[in-house]
Amino acid sequence: MEQRRSFIKDLLQSTDFDREVNAKGWVRTKRGNKQVAFIALNDGSTINNIQVVIDIANFDEKLIKDITTGASLSVNGTLVKSMGQGQSVEIQAKEVEVYGTADTETYPLQKKGHSLEFLREIAHLRFRTNTFGAVFRIRHAMAYAVHKYFNDNNFYYLHTPIITGSDAEGAGEMFRVTTVKAGEEKRTQDGKIDFSEDFFGKETNLTVSGQLEAELGATALSNVYTFGPTFRAENSNTPRHLAEFWMIEPEMAFYDIHDNMDLAEDMLKYLVKYALDNCMDDLKFLEQRLINEEKQKSQQERSEMALIEKLKFIIEDDFVRLTYTEAIDILKNSKPAKKGKFQFPVEWGIDLQSEHERYLVEKHFKKPVILIDYPKDIKAFYMKQNDDGKTVRAMDILFPGIGEIIGGSQREESYEKLLSRINEMEIPEKDMWWYLETRKFGTVPHSGYGLGFERLILFITGMTNIRDVIPFPRTPKNAEF
Ligand code: 4AD
Ligand code: MG
Repeated sequence: MEQRRSFIKDLLQSTDFDREVNAKGWVRTKRGNKQVAFIALNDGSTINNIQVVIDIANFDEKLIKDITTGASLSVNGTLVKSMGQGQSVEIQAKEVEVYGTADTETYPLQKKGHSLEFLREIAHLRFRTNTFGAVFRIRHAMAYAVHKYFNDNNFYYLHTPIITGSDAEGAGEMFRVTTVKAGEEKRTQDGKIDFSEDFFGKETNLTVSGQLEAELGATALSNVYTFGPTFRAENSNTPRHLAEFWMIEPEMAFYDIHDNMDLAEDMLKYLVKYALDNCMDDLKFLEQRLINEEKQKSQQERSEMALIEKLKFIIEDDFVRLTYTEAIDILKNSKPAKKGKFQFPVEWGIDLQSEHERYLVEKHFKKPVILIDYPKDIKAFYMKQNDDGKTVRAMDILFPGIGEIIGGSQREESYEKLLSRINEMEIPEKDMWWYLETRKFGTVPHSGYGLGFERLILFITGMTNIRDVIPFPRTPKNAEF
């Protein structure tokens, strides 16, 4: 086995025939007769398999038997133009080595068409299905595109800490980090846990957001972004929430809310276009998968657009921009509100529910929507206060089928206003001294936002459960693998 290994993706595109090649991968299917076996081999480099043709007379009987679905192989042979349908090239095998067999009785991926729920239970093997291969190749491409976009637009990638002492979003939904064994916590005189004994000498948690530290970077480097894991101990068992998810958080000095919206819209369009330009094989497969799934649904439940059309539609049209207050008026005058169809009643001051967001995007505007100027009471302490005394310069971007994909704001740059909000919201001022100091020394107007990476991947792939777009999901009562 001297031949250098080629990736199947490259072999399938090759027109350089009648040369010796080596391919390695896993058997997807084997069919044939007593004389010849046809093996569909996949190595993850593409959704497409290469056909390996084995002239049975030239091979050991046991070897042929060992080549079953799931087995891993190395194949030496001649790359030839294929006469068969559905493929342009194939390998005429000369030598085959089986690295690992896969017992037909127990290998769980025998039959086609497993449910996504079942595949979640075998997340260690689900990469080997077409669907998850496509999803995770696209996830990689999107991560790369995020870095490329920011690099090409004068941003610096800033690594913000995962262990923090502050609660950026102020929602109190944090996972504690400690070296003290359960049951061995020391107590202070007033009965609280004495964190001075702990590893960091203070209470620490897994971060819910890199934003506060990104702001520190932006006040010197101008444009920075983070891209890392974030953690939320919120007990929301929904198809759109994870306890551990990846977030992209750009932060820009000298940006107001309008600059912020322009950047976010431009970035989202860039990412969607990148997927269309670079992931078409996988997108076509996922689109077909959705079309097959839709056939099982009633006419009403079916979506109006196929996946690729939906992605193109995002690039072509401007997003709609309006204020929260305007959105509330639209919702109040909507059919579902008048007929009492919303589960959560619409009133100025409420946090919009998924049903409201989806009405605006999917029914009313039929476009992505950017909402700004939310009531201050439902948003985080750091957002810039508007002159009306009631609203803040928040910005949420709502997408079809997803709801909120981005949340961000212009930040409060006035030391006095920020401090008074911190006190009003009873955030411990002593923990925030470093954040406050950026407003004391050379403060500037600045803005930023957070893009939920898995929500982006949901949108691009058309998958409907967030557990299916991250390799190993962390959700309530679930940390297997
Ligand atoms: O709206 P969020 O909470 O905003 C922030 O964390 C800000 N610090 C961002 C910033 O301004 N730098 O979260 C931002 C995005 C949401 O719009 C959503 O896409 C995603 O993160 N997100 C989640 N994704 C999966 N699971 C969860 N539990 C999520 N919570 C938020
Ligand atoms: Mg939000």
